[in-house]
Amino acid sequence: MNYYTPEISDSIFWVGSKDWNRRMFDALIPLPDGTSYNSYLVKGSRGSALIDSVNPGFEDELIDKLGSLTDIKALDFVIMNHAEPDHATAIKAVMDISTDAKLVTTQKGAKMAQVFYKIPEQRLVIVKDGDTLELGDRTLRFIEAPWLHWPETMFTYVQENRILFSCDYFGAHTAAGFYDDEVEDLISVAKRYFGEIMMPFKAKGAQALEKIKDMDIAIIAPSHGPIYRNPERILGMYYIWTAGKTQEKAILVYASMWGATEAMVKSMAETLMAEGIQISYFNLLNADIGDIARELVDSRAIVLGTPTVLGEMHPLAVYAAHLVKILKPPLRYGVALSSYGWGGGAIRQLSEMLKPTKIEVLGAIEINGPASDEDFNNIELLGKQLAARIKSS
Ligand code: FEO
Repeated sequence: MNYYTPEISDSIFWVGSKDWNRRMFDALIPLPDGTSYNSYLVKGSRGSALIDSVNPGFEDELIDKLGSLTDIKALDFVIMNHAEPDHATAIKAVMDISTDAKLVTTQKGAKMAQVFYKIPEQRLVIVKDGDTLELGDRTLRFIEAPWLHWPETMFTYVQENRILFSCDYFGAHTAAGFYDDEVEDLISVAKRYFGEIMMPFKAKGAQALEKIKDMDIAIIAPSHGPIYRNPERILGMYYIWTAGKTQEKAILVYASMWGATEAMVKSMAETLMAEGIQISYFNLLNADIGDIARELVDSRAIVLGTPTVLGEMHPLAVYAAHLVKILKPPLRYGVALSSYGWGGGAIRQLSEMLKPTKIEVLGAIEINGPASDEDFNNIELLGKQLAARIKSS
């Protein structure tokens, strides 16, 4: 097969794979646009290095691409910025061919390389922050950037080309486009990815940005999605997202069985819109969890609606509340809305679930059956209070 292996910068080639048909990641994250596993070959005058590899199932493609550009047996180094299988699985296949190549990674990465990929200790080179590796006319500098989103993560910077290889960080799950300016809605796709993967590690992400803020970066080459030849586009957004800067926005998320809870949430939505609050609105029956994650990145408030089912929250609402808890969005305020048939309980459970978060619950309305005019008035009052707090923050 003929393969696409573009030279993205002098002596640096893309040898990754596009996974157009993948629809789920980690059995958790929907991938409506597929994804890519970006792997890069650096050909220096006195040595070569592969930076990250590809997902299981794409090993042969990587080997073919590498083989079309270089003698794989003579490869000197494999750089493992991150040990998760979508980037590190094919390392083993490459190193089985290039038997003299060394694997370069962080201390924690070295342990993972042994555990996950059975790389023997004598083939490991452990690097620390600021260490460099000379390939003749190309110099690789390593930047420890832990917990993005695993503990061992690092970036690799090729000094002569001013390219930052950031692996998952600055990534986007889409197979579309090759460079950032070729994907119209890329920032929205990248924001969704940030919400799903990086949002729980905002503080670590901000530390990583601080480390690279004075570096001269011409290109950011992540390991998912397009390469940024306009790096300021994504850097600017990451400064905002990692800082947890919110907008005058509320996200409304709900499950409803017979429409009573839905009517309460819709009434809240109408009030918030009337008060000038931007909203996003998700019925959990058919919502895309990735879209919810994206909206959590900069929403200031959440409205959670759930009926009571067998004395507890609707299972879909449990899932949503759990996601809110683990994704650690910068939400400031919350409101709970619920309708029950013959006995409540959902609100009590929801309050418990949200306790570990930093969300200040401004109010909860739990009613029996469909909302009355008085109930709708109460929802409107609560909505106005919520809007005022959103606007005053
Ligand atoms: Fe794309 Fe954390 O792997």
